[in-house]
Amino acid sequence: MKIAVLPGDGIGTEIVAEAVKVLNALDLKFEMESALVGGAAYEAHGHPLPESTLQLAKEADAILFGAVGDWKYDKLDRPLRPEQAILGLRKNLGLFANFRPAICYEQLVGASSLKPELIAGLDILIIRELTGDIYFGQPRGRRTAVDGHFPGAEEAFDTMRYSRPEIERIAHVAFHAARKRNKKVTSVDKANVLETFQFWKDVMTEVGQQYPDVELQHMYVDNAAMQLVKAPKAFDVVVTGNMFGDILSDEASMLTGSIGMLPSASLNSSNQGLYEPSHGSAPDIAGKGVANPLATILSAAMMLRFSLNQEAAAQRIEAAVQKVLAQGLRTPDIYSEGTTKVGTAQMGDAVVKAL
Ligand code: NAI
Ligand code: MG
Repeated sequence: MKIAVLPGDGIGTEIVAEAVKVLNALDLKFEMESALVGGAAYEAHGHPLPESTLQLAKEADAILFGAVGDWKYDKLDRPLRPEQAILGLRKNLGLFANFRPAICYEQLVGASSLKPELIAGLDILIIRELTGDIYFGQPRGRRTAVDGHFPGAEEAFDTMRYSRPEIERIAHVAFHAARKRNKKVTSVDKANVLETFQFWKDVMTEVGQQYPDVELQHMYVDNAAMQLVKAPKAFDVVVTGNMFGDILSDEASMLTGSIGMLPSASLNSSNQGLYEPSHGSAPDIAGKGVANPLATILSAAMMLRFSLNQEAAAQRIEAAVQKVLAQGLRTPDIYSEGTTKVGTAQMGDAVVKAL
C-alpha cells in the first residue's frame, strides 16, 4: 500500500504529521513517501506542483494531502499560486468525485452554533463534482468589454460548463452512494437561471430513472443553503457542481461542530484517491500547534476504506476518534465548557492511545 504524503503549507504539515502517526500505529504495512506541494514546493522548486510531486502522486495507491496556500502568495501569477497544486492534482488524476460526509458526533452536539436538536444524529453526505464547472471552464481572463453594461470598461470573466458525461458519472456516484444509505438524493442546481444547471438537472433526472429505488429531489442552491441550516437531517446524499459544492460543504462543516472535523475523499474512476481535510491551510493559526487534526485523521480512515480496502482499520480509527471525544479532549475550535483543551499533537497522541 503506497501512500504519497503531501503536507503542503500552514497547518497542513501539523495535521498530516498526526494522521501519519495514527496510520503508523495500525498493524498494517505502508510505504509512505513525502513530497513538497503548494507554497512549500514553490519556495523550493519555483512551482506549486513540481513534476516529481505529480509523478509520486500518480504512482501511489492513495494520496494523503494537508492543505495549500498562504496570503503571502496572493500577488503571484495564478499558475504559480499554491492553490494551483490541488487543482492540478484533481485535474491530472481525474479526481472528479469528492465525498464530504458531514457527521455530527454526539459528543460535539454542543460545539456547533446550531441548536442541538437540529444536528444530533446528523449523518449526511455531500458529493461535489470536482473537475468541471466554472473552476476549470475555459475561456477565462481579463479584457476590455465590447458589450454589457459598460462597453469599453476593463472586465473579467470565467466560463461555467458541464458536459453530459461529466454529469452522468457524478450522478451514478451519487445514486450508488444513496443506495448504500437512506436512498435519497438531493441534486442542487440553479436551473432557474443557469443553462449549465438546467442541463445538470435534466441529466440527473435521466440517470435517476435507472435507480427507481432511490428518491431524487431537485433543489435550487440558494434554498439548499437555507435548508442546510434549517433542517439538515432532511438530507441524505446531496450532489452538486464544483462551486456550489465548495460553498455548501463549508456551510455543512458547521453542522459537525467545526471545519476541523470534516474529512474528504476525492476519487477517480479507478478508485485511486486523494484524501484531505475540507479546510485550508489556516494561516491565522499555523505554527501555533492548535489546529484540529481530526478532519485529517478521519480522511486517513476514508483512505483506508475507499482506496486501500481496509474497512476494519478505517472503523478502528473512527472509533478511536469518538473515544477521545468521549474522553472530553478538545482542540480550541471544538472546545466548550467542562471539556479539556488540547493541542494538535496531544490530540493525535490521544487517538493513537485510543487505538
Ligand atoms: P481555511 O479553511 O484555511 O480557514 C478558515 C477558518 O477555519 C480559519 O479561521 C481557520 O483558522 C479555521 N480552521 C481551518 N481549519 C482548521 C482546523 N483544522 N482546526 C481549527 N481551525 C481551523 O480557509 P481560508 O482562511 O479561507 O483560506 C486559507 C488558505 O487556505 C488560502 O490560501 C486558501 O486558498 C487555502 N485553501 C486551501 C484549500 C486546500 O488546500 N484544499 C482549501 C481551502 C482553502
Ligand atoms: Mg472550500
